[in-house]
Amino acid sequence: MKNYSIAIDGPAGAGKSTIAKAVSKQLSFIYVDTGAMYRAMALFVLRSNIDPSDSEAIKGVYDGVDIKIDYIDKEQQIYLNGENVTSTIRREEVGNVASIVSKHLIVREKLVELQQKIASNTSVVMDGRDIGTVVLPNADLKVYLTASADERARRRYLDLKEKGIDEDIEKIKADIIARDEQDMNRENSPLSKAEDAIMIDSSKMSIDEVVTEILRLFKDRI
Ligand code: DC
Repeated sequence: MKNYSIAIDGPAGAGKSTIAKAVSKQLSFIYVDTGAMYRAMALFVLRSNIDPSDSEAIKGVYDGVDIKIDYIDKEQQIYLNGENVTSTIRREEVGNVASIVSKHLIVREKLVELQQKIASNTSVVMDGRDIGTVVLPNADLKVYLTASADERARRRYLDLKEKGIDEDIEKIKADIIARDEQDMNRENSPLSKAEDAIMIDSSKMSIDEVVTEILRLFKDRI
């Protein structure tokens, strides 16, 4: 049976994971959160007290890093050297360091290989920054999901508030803009819209509207 793939790329806080999860559920595909893999790498770097921008230092420890994913009740779990780090990697600090470690080719090669291997075995909805451009260039559907920086900051603020964390919304917005800059301007696989990706600006759309639109686009394609 053919394996299908949907690639969803876009900037931080655009709602990729919420949307990708909902789409994968509707289609009974596996959801692959590739950002979690870069976050696991970042956690390793943070714990090792290595400068995340020092590629030589990362090369030195690289062979000792084993990142794996698995599913419990259809929820992606991520393991760093055997330890389940699924919730630890959600911290803001880890996301910011992930944006730095993901610049290095050596890190990307390892994780892209893992991502391609997963997609070769099963139908996936995969989200990240380079899925449509590098990881799954032949994806059945590519979506570039974006929203204004104000809207992304507002959603992030509400998310954190729900978790009992009160962050300054202007600081969140500044972090989001800095992360976009870093992810879009790096040399290796920068965040960009694949030529054949469909752009969806979710600033004024509900989650349901975006999910319905992606399902419609996918059904049109196959
Ligand atoms: O989606 P996220 O916030 O969990 O991703 C964390 C960082 O990882 C992001 O700022 C850039 C990097 N990343 C990447 O370079 N390529 C991907 N496919 C996914 C994430």
